[in-house]
Amino acid sequence: MSQSESWEAVDAYFAAQLAPDDEALLAALRDSEAEGLPPIAVSAPQGKLLQLLAQVQGARTILEIGTLGGYSTIWMARALPEDGRLVSLEYDPHHAEVATRNLARAGLDKIAEVRVGAALDSLPLLADENPPPFDLVFIDADKGNNPHYVEWALRLTRAGSLIVLDNVVRGGRVLDAGSTASDVLGTRAALDLIASHPRLSGTAVQTVGSKGWDGFALARVLA
Ligand code: SAH
Ligand code: DHB
Ligand code: MG
Repeated sequence: MSQSESWEAVDAYFAAQLAPDDEALLAALRDSEAEGLPPIAVSAPQGKLLQLLAQVQGARTILEIGTLGGYSTIWMARALPEDGRLVSLEYDPHHAEVATRNLARAGLDKIAEVRVGAALDSLPLLADENPPPFDLVFIDADKGNNPHYVEWALRLTRAGSLIVLDNVVRGGRVLDAGSTASDVLGTRAALDLIASHPRLSGTAVQTVGSKGWDGFALARVLA
């Protein structure tokens, strides 16, 4: 077995043991594939991690930036109480339509809502509504805007909220300080912000598995 085959095999074992996809999650993946969406949702063990983080937070409200077909959305929304609320921001109207259908099939349409548009347009509109602070923010959209998304997350959260960024490693490309790739630049700028911001305490962890070599950054909002 190659190294990446081993990573995938272990991920499949962990997924089957600890994070089995049920009908609604499987349908969300199937439907996303059938509709031509790229196969870049979080893995099942990663989805379960997001769900556990939301539960540990005691989350009642979650903000997601980057919905795709709603796979990560379903994992997180299931951590919320019946009167909880998840807002997920998605640029592509087709992705949003697929996700909305997947959320309805999962019975989460009362809890989770997809808003179509560039997140940097949707975020000020959301802020204008003065929503209660979000307990968890999952940032997983166009990585070039990651520093802006972290800034918005700070405005829309409270002391104790958790901010999670996906794809901060990208097969090691994050190390390339001279990169001109927007995803690397955006992620490095977001990590700088987390490292230097007086209201954030954060770290980053590398992951291997069905999504190759990648990782998450996590930051807790301080007082
Ligand atoms: N969180 C999803 C995967 C998201 S993939 C999951 O794990 O299941 C990234 C998504 O971000 C794509 O659907 C893409 O269309 C969306 N996106 C890209 N640029 C965006 C922007 N400016 N605003 C909002 N969403 C954006
Ligand atoms: C890509 C985006 C993601 O959010 C991800 O988790 C994996 C890959 C991509 O754009 O290639
Ligand atoms: Mg991602």
